[in-house]
Amino acid sequence: MKNQVRAIAALCLGAAMLLGTCVTGNAAASKDKPIVMKFGHVMSTDNSWHKGCMKFAEIVREKTGGRIKVQVFPNSQLGDERDMAEGCQMGTIDMVIIGGIMGNFYEPIQLFEIPYFFKDINHVRKVIYVPLGEEIKADIYKQSGLVSLEFWERCPRVLSSNKPVLSVEDVKGLKLRTPEIPATVAAWKAIGANPTPMPWAEVYTALQQKTIDAQENPLATIASAKVEEVQSHIALTNHVFGTPQHIMSGGTWERLSAEDKAVIKEAAKEAREYQNAIAWEEDAATKEVFVKKGVIFTEPDLSGFQERSQSIHGEFAARYGKELYDKVQKAAE
Ligand code: MLT
Repeated sequence: MKNQVRAIAALCLGAAMLLGTCVTGNAAASKDKPIVMKFGHVMSTDNSWHKGCMKFAEIVREKTGGRIKVQVFPNSQLGDERDMAEGCQMGTIDMVIIGGIMGNFYEPIQLFEIPYFFKDINHVRKVIYVPLGEEIKADIYKQSGLVSLEFWERCPRVLSSNKPVLSVEDVKGLKLRTPEIPATVAAWKAIGANPTPMPWAEVYTALQQKTIDAQENPLATIASAKVEEVQSHIALTNHVFGTPQHIMSGGTWERLSAEDKAVIKEAAKEAREYQNAIAWEEDAATKEVFVKKGVIFTEPDLSGFQERSQSIHGEFAARYGKELYDKVQKAAE
């Protein structure tokens, strides 16, 4: 299945490349011969990620008078998040919105995906919108060659399943799909589940065919792939406040003029603010829709989840940076 998704993605990308020109320098760019940037993500078109990407494209078009054209590819059309980040490194894709999978390209960010690492969204904001966030972005560029334009906000991840989850004991042995992030897999093992990493585009079918029992994601992401059609329960575990990133290929970035770099940065900031505002509304609205559809919500006792995920903090802090770990924890104070 993964290979099929990759093959389809490669075909889409090939077709897209034939239809447009990837960034090859901006010297001769004009409205008639614009710079074309390919921007991919894994969500459906009604999700706030897509709306944020479209807003970015619109702002860039307005600010450059059509000299830079951003084409948005939703629904994993350019591949899964890993493929797209690799594409940005190779220069075959210009931009991606990427979630915790970014931890495969810049390992320290995996800390952010450990359940209950961040206390709440205010804790996240005290890290991503301050000089520490800028330091992380600079280090990402140094270590991966990817330009992190913005961190986006995301509503908390919750757990969907076909049985009620009221405490940590209820996830024992649960075949739980996770994104392909080592820290996430380790955390869910410690919690007692049987984590099964796979790309997001494969999750609906895997649940339908019962090769997995459960998955975890923010409500709007669950709705984006219609996962509620194949899951009866949602436990409000609120275990991860993710920090998706608006990533740009380092090659694309370096080919831009100083003036265009400034436009891209401003547009990315405005698009981030727009996405953040609608993401929280979308989460609340999705909950109402799910209740109407008959999805059963539970509010489990979180203490066991918190204690067990805490047990891997030391190991991952040592592996990915005790200094960053301490700085982030201190930001919550
Ligand atoms: C996933 O679970 O794969 C998400 O939807 C995207 C991400 O968290 O990276």
